[in-house]
Amino acid sequence: MSELVRVERVNGVAVVAVNNPQVNALSAGVPEAIGAAIAGAEADPAVRAIVLMGAGKTFIAGADIKQLEDMAWGRGSAAPELHGLLQEIEDCSKPVVMAIHGTALGGGLEVAMAGHYRVAAADAQMGQPEVNLGIIPGAEGTQRLPRLVGIEKAIEMCVSGKPMKAKEGLAAGLLDALVEGDFKQAAVNFAEAVAKRGGPHPKTRGRKAELRTSGTLEEALAAGRALAAKIKRNQAAPMKAIEAIQAAATMPYEEGCTRERQLFQESVASEQCRALIHMFFAERAAGRIPGVSKDTPVLAVGQVGIIGAGTMGGGIAMACANAGISVLLKDTERKAVDAGMATIRKNYEVSVQRGRFTPEAVAERIGRIHPQTDYAGFESVDLVIEAVFENLELKKKVFQEMVKMAKPGAVLASNTSTLSIDEIASVTPRPESVIGMHFFSPANVMRLLEIVKGKGTSAATVATALGVAKKIGKVGVVVGNCEGFVGNRMMFPYMYEAQFMVEEGATPEQVDRALTRFGWAMGIFEVDDMAGLDVAWRIRKELGHFTEPGARRPLVADQLCEMGRYGQKTGRGWYVYGEDRKPKPDPEVLDLIRKAAKEADIAQKEFREEDIVERALYGLINEGAKILEEGCALRASDIDVVYLNGYGFPAWRGGPMFYADTVGLPSVYERIRQFEKDLGQRWKPANLLRKLAEERKSFREYDAEREG
Ligand code: NAI
Repeated sequence: MSELVRVERVNGVAVVAVNNPQVNALSAGVPEAIGAAIAGAEADPAVRAIVLMGAGKTFIAGADIKQLEDMAWGRGSAAPELHGLLQEIEDCSKPVVMAIHGTALGGGLEVAMAGHYRVAAADAQMGQPEVNLGIIPGAEGTQRLPRLVGIEKAIEMCVSGKPMKAKEGLAAGLLDALVEGDFKQAAVNFAEAVAKRGGPHPKTRGRKAELRTSGTLEEALAAGRALAAKIKRNQAAPMKAIEAIQAAATMPYEEGCTRERQLFQESVASEQCRALIHMFFAERAAGRIPGVSKDTPVLAVGQVGIIGAGTMGGGIAMACANAGISVLLKDTERKAVDAGMATIRKNYEVSVQRGRFTPEAVAERIGRIHPQTDYAGFESVDLVIEAVFENLELKKKVFQEMVKMAKPGAVLASNTSTLSIDEIASVTPRPESVIGMHFFSPANVMRLLEIVKGKGTSAATVATALGVAKKIGKVGVVVGNCEGFVGNRMMFPYMYEAQFMVEEGATPEQVDRALTRFGWAMGIFEVDDMAGLDVAWRIRKELGHFTEPGARRPLVADQLCEMGRYGQKTGRGWYVYGEDRKPKPDPEVLDLIRKAAKEADIAQKEFREEDIVERALYGLINEGAKILEEGCALRASDIDVVYLNGYGFPAWRGGPMFYADTVGLPSVYERIRQFEKDLGQRWKPANLLRKLAEERKSFREYDAEREG
């Protein structure tokens, strides 16, 4: 018997355990080994029932995503063929009990649904998360799932990709029992009981009655499409999953399976699938840093000191408290810490109202945050994060205090969004411990954490920051200490081109509509209003944007700020906001724009949606290429991770650099050259972009060559 599956006999029950660490993925060889083990047990007269489970900490957690990646890129790998195996399991003359602990996701759940019975540990989770990779279940999940849980629930699971907890699975009909105590023994007991009770043992594919809906099928499908449009806007896979479930409801089983296979093949061959799989691996690649290895010493951060209890300090405190880390939260005076704590409490109350946390869980979290106005206790923390006002002199002063108060070796981090980490580090005697930890607002929600490596930052400090990111559920991306780091630096050309287009005849609303139709979560003017126009105004001044001779300067943003139109917080910015906080076009702003354009003698023209998208996006991409060329991002895919997790770039487009690849770098480069001719020096193409375009290579290939 292959090592991929272990079989043991417990009384009259054959316990077949899949043994493919870490997650018992259905890699090549695993389905065959399961099939052989089940056939062996069926043929053994001493066996009355079979239990299939996972060795180690989980059931079969899913498909092998490397294999899916090969399929998506047309590298020959065929779809794992599970049809035969699932049918054999279902046709087994002895009852097959699927015993689920940990997670049964994707292919794992599909295998589980072929068993006659399913039992699960109380903390098990089951789901069909394929949509997250741009595909649909490919091993009859869309056919068996609705037969167990009904059309509506099946649609919800396949569209959202969200797993279901065991208790809910029991109520929905996905599970037959929850088991407690010794998991294997409990599953064996269940198997013995059903064997004793005798057959026939239910075959999922034979079920019909459960192909139920609460209303008509059409209503269920329409509700599913509405859900998909809402939570997976512009994505093809959720719609295809609904089509496959429709086939389950309207066709005989085998025909439904054929339809599912067709739809699966279509989805796996799509650009969206390639983009989403790219993102899956991009996130994992972001954690691999040259010079940082498993042996790099990492501080196990159990307590954090945070300086500044404002918007960011409070959010960071919540992110840490949520992960079980205790926090010393310091501000200058009682009033400020009290205000910070009041905001934290209010934010947690909203989570309770929304059912995210219980009041007890919130009390525990708040209990982990210790407000204070002095440095008491800072001598024992492993990490101090500074989040005071964005002012270099102030930050330097605070770092001088920090280094005195903190224990030797503690990591000293700044949440600055624009200031130089090297400058800040220069006032401390140990720049190796200084690092940027640039959180995004709201810091307890946004997944991105830019980890800014200064020139003196040590590998151990980087490793510790990455470890903390992981612990608090963030995606840490290590970036260089360039102005604006990666995300904000790219945002500026993108934002300015949008403003220039508005001066040339487009409207903020038209630009935002083009960008959201492209897939961005929000348009850039709406984002600017949300972040506060005053924030960009201050940064513009500080970084000396447009001070170069001949540089084109946006005409309206400063004026809006001078008028006190800071965006949402003042009810007016690029848009005007009413009670519902939804942006509405403001004729006053349009007048201002047209007047400014006239005074500056800017020619007016009509913009097509694709022109808007191209100009805004290519500004972003060209800056991304410059960042890459300078080494401020380690990989193009890191930039994609930043944009997906911090800026609302559509995942199914795979991030801005991946998107450029899909357009083709030679076309992107040519277009940018044209912009340079028409619009001036600011559009000078990045050298790296020119080089790759000439070599007809993609950013992905650039990354792959450098990874070796
Ligand atoms: P904020 O104005 O809400 O909070 C700053 C806090 O620092 C205030 O409570 C203030 O009393 C306190 N503070 C000032 N001097 C202090 C000192 N010497 N010791 C202790 N506390 C002191 O500012 P916000 O928005 O939280 O920004 C903080 C930092 O985070 C800035 O560097 C900012 O650039 C950065 N940042 C802000 C983002 C945002 O969206 N607001 C996003 C990412 C980074």
